[in-house]
Amino acid sequence: MRSEKGIVAAAEPEAAKVGRDILSAGGNAIDAAVAVGFALAVTYPAAGNLGGGGFLVGSIGREKETSETPQENLSSVALDFREVAPLQSTSDMYVKAKESSSLLGHLASGVPGSVDGLLHALDSWGSMSRDQVLAPAIRLAKDGFPMTQRTHSMLARKSTMNAMLKYRASADLFYPGGKPVPTGTLFKQPDLARTLDLIRQKGREGFYSGDVADHLATEMKRGGGLISLKDLKEYRSVERTPIKFPTSDGFAISMPPPSSGGICLAQISSLLEGYPFSTTEAGSARHLHLLAEAMRRSFADRNQFLGDPDFVDCQTQLLLSTDHLNKLRSSISEDVATPSSNFTSSPQGVKESEQTTHYSIVDPAGNGVAVTTTLNGSFGSKVVVPGTGFLLNNEMDDFTTRPGVPNLFGLIQGELNGIAPGKRPLSSMSPTVWHYSDGSVRGVLGTPGGPTIITNVFQVLFALDRLGLSPELAVSMPKMHHQCLPDQIYVEQGHSESVLQQLKALKHKIVTRSNIGDFQLITHLNSRGWTGISDPRGGGASF
Ligand code: DON
Repeated sequence: MRSEKGIVAAAEPEAAKVGRDILSAGGNAIDAAVAVGFALAVTYPAAGNLGGGGFLVGSIGREKETSETPQENLSSVALDFREVAPLQSTSDMYVKAKESSSLLGHLASGVPGSVDGLLHALDSWGSMSRDQVLAPAIRLAKDGFPMTQRTHSMLARKSTMNAMLKYRASADLFYPGGKPVPTGTLFKQPDLARTLDLIRQKGREGFYSGDVADHLATEMKRGGGLISLKDLKEYRSVERTPIKFPTSDGFAISMPPPSSGGICLAQISSLLEGYPFSTTEAGSARHLHLLAEAMRRSFADRNQFLGDPDFVDCQTQLLLSTDHLNKLRSSISEDVATPSSNFTSSPQGVKESEQTTHYSIVDPAGNGVAVTTTLNGSFGSKVVVPGTGFLLNNEMDDFTTRPGVPNLFGLIQGELNGIAPGKRPLSSMSPTVWHYSDGSVRGVLGTPGGPTIITNVFQVLFALDRLGLSPELAVSMPKMHHQCLPDQIYVEQGHSESVLQQLKALKHKIVTRSNIGDFQLITHLNSRGWTGISDPRGGGASF
């Protein structure tokens, strides 16, 4: 999609349309982001959510037809609406519990942040009323929409179905008569419509106290979870300072801790400075080798040093210092892979399961907003809170739940990411805004994919910025991923066999895996306006 005006790229077309309609009605990028966030909670229940959390990164503040010098009136924002560990949680709560308890069922959920986050964004930087931005989501929940093929097939997956059918409200909503809602059936969610309407009327109180909160706390007690009325009352999203890092002719901003995204992107980008690349080298063994070496080093730091900055010292300055980065860079060899054991010694296995969602928005004034939001796994904890119509997250699994044991994404994380009441688990979500050197927005980037979020966002940005690829190619080209441990390069299908052979000769272990990500990219095309690319790997759209 190309446009001189604004663009919305999202993983589900109905929700993307909601954003476009808000922009057409004169809303700004934040208004559209809030409306899309609530709409995705209705139309894309595997990842869109009221019961989860996320991050928003934006370059905003530009009014329509104002200054010719955009840098004077654009400011960078990063909003953290990540879930927090319940007040009754303890550092070893999963050590003796059933292995699946950080992933499935009531104990897996952190206190949800999305509703507070979206409303905080609207109050702080939006221009429309709650009525205006919530109306489309309420309509979609109340009147229904045709069940999408994508959600249907996710629901039909055996493991998902077995897990969801354990919970009465989840079964009633998604499996009427014991079968997943068929593709194309008008899917109505009256309980969810009522919850959204309470949020419309009462703002955050409509969710964090009153009826909805009572339902949630009661269900937690019933199912052995920890979230209490006090947890809900105390939840607050937090404005943070984005991580800013240079690109070849400008800069990008991304999410700071409790996301590892911004720091890792800044590190990987810095580690690859000084290696010249040309367009013809895209996808070459040298390209992939150097990417892998930079990623390996950054993930070693991630897992050792990062956690919730309100609880631990992430040493951001040290991790981004010239000295530290020079030292890491000088340990890279162009001729051979460095074993990950040089940086860390834990063993690791990988499990794959990915479901999060990202959307990118640029409005007609040139404000850019990137939002990544999630329940963590597909349909989160699989628990729909009875009477409310929304699913709860399983974000507690992003903490270091059991020392030395890999999480859902195969990450082995450090002590600094241990559980404590009120603490946020370390994330990889990396909503990113790219800028020209004058400070105006040049692109908005993001994707789901657990740790592959970081490496995918990096590869797309690098392809645009350093390799000079088209936005279409930057998104569609086969991706790779290295997360230090396990010590191997994951590759999507589509890399050339000879490149993979050359990588093996450099002593890399290569593992082919399924699709990486569901990228939603918007980039500026000089005088030709904006282009929006919704990843061909997913089912989204840009309007
Ligand atoms: O915050 C994180 O890093 C994870 N909870 C994100 C999960 C995710 O991206 C799942 N996938 N597509």
